[in-house]
Amino acid sequence: MLKKAAILGTGYYVPEKVLTNFDLEKIMDTNDEWITTRSGIKERHLSEKDQPTSDLAFRAGEKAIVSAGLKNADIDFVIICTVTGDYTWPATGNVVVERLGINGVPSMDLSAACSGFIYGLTVARAFVETGLYKNILLIGAEEFTKIVDWTDRSTCVLFGDGAGAVVIGQSRGDGGEILSTYLASDGSKVKYLLQPGGGVVHPINQETIDKKLQFAQMNGKEVFKNAVTKMPEALEKAIKLAGINIDDLDYFIFHQANKRIIDAIAERFKVPEEKLIVNIQRYANTSAATIPIALAEAVEQGKIKKGHLIGFSALGAGFTWGGAVVRM
Ligand code: ACO
Repeated sequence: MLKKAAILGTGYYVPEKVLTNFDLEKIMDTNDEWITTRSGIKERHLSEKDQPTSDLAFRAGEKAIVSAGLKNADIDFVIICTVTGDYTWPATGNVVVERLGINGVPSMDLSAACSGFIYGLTVARAFVETGLYKNILLIGAEEFTKIVDWTDRSTCVLFGDGAGAVVIGQSRGDGGEILSTYLASDGSKVKYLLQPGGGVVHPINQETIDKKLQFAQMNGKEVFKNAVTKMPEALEKAIKLAGINIDDLDYFIFHQANKRIIDAIAERFKVPEEKLIVNIQRYANTSAATIPIALAEAVEQGKIKKGHLIGFSALGAGFTWGGAVVRM
């Protein structure tokens, strides 16, 4: 018999160092007004030079395990949703398993960029509902500040570092049930958002470095256009699969890429501002980490409570996109 999968615990971690828009004004030709009006971002957190993505993931993951009332040893699978892992390979999940002291437990990374967490939620849900694994530690962790070109003001100002985590296990009958997940992708849009260098198409060498191919590249207008069409589509599909109506949702957690994207989606569904969980002003875009950070923070603040119906939606490089509905 299928066992319903649920979010059993949440946690998040952001590095201490904060870089405000005013700090950026001092190091590049930009200003707080431009960044705020175009994106809603006021500040972002920056990892230390010697603080890899696995460190953020580990710290967020430990909190989620405690919040689920479990011990590290209870975790039987670790998934890290990231495109800014410690190494191209092996997986950052391997490093996190070592940090958690649970070597032997299977671990892997999942690459779906900003929709990584929704993809991970779907994979973890399937593992639990088929009975393959019991307690999966699912973490969105990214350090985009280490792969953006700090001389490209149109991209670097939009990103921050952070990690958010959940434990997915069998429902204990007291909330957290994943009611639906929906995923999609379109490879014709790869060119609009990518880190071209470092893979086998453009291996690292002097030529690719001279062309700055090791940095994230983005066509902002195409990302915007696709986000405001695909994210609502994904949310609608997830709502339909969950058998609920948009008005039933207590809160909406959209990928925190840009406040204007969030507002456009909210307007389309006539969602009031108070139902939106928004923290982009403090963390900027942390890619696969935005949704689990927003979820864990809203739970910590007591905003999201047991029984609340939450709608999720994200779009990321690929493009990949997806939606989900969870009853907390
Ligand atoms: N500070 C000041 N001026 C800037 C900056 C900056 N940081 N960056 C660009 N500008 C200038 C440009 O040079 C341009 O100047 P010009 O008119 O003299 O040539 C002007 O601002 C307008 O630039 P546009 O690129 O046309 O600005 P636009 O209004 O399209 O906004 C933005 C750019 C914010 C990137 C927008 O396209 C957007 O929101 N796109 C979505 C991208 C996004 O959210 N990405 C997140 C990562 S992807 C994801 O998570 C799914």
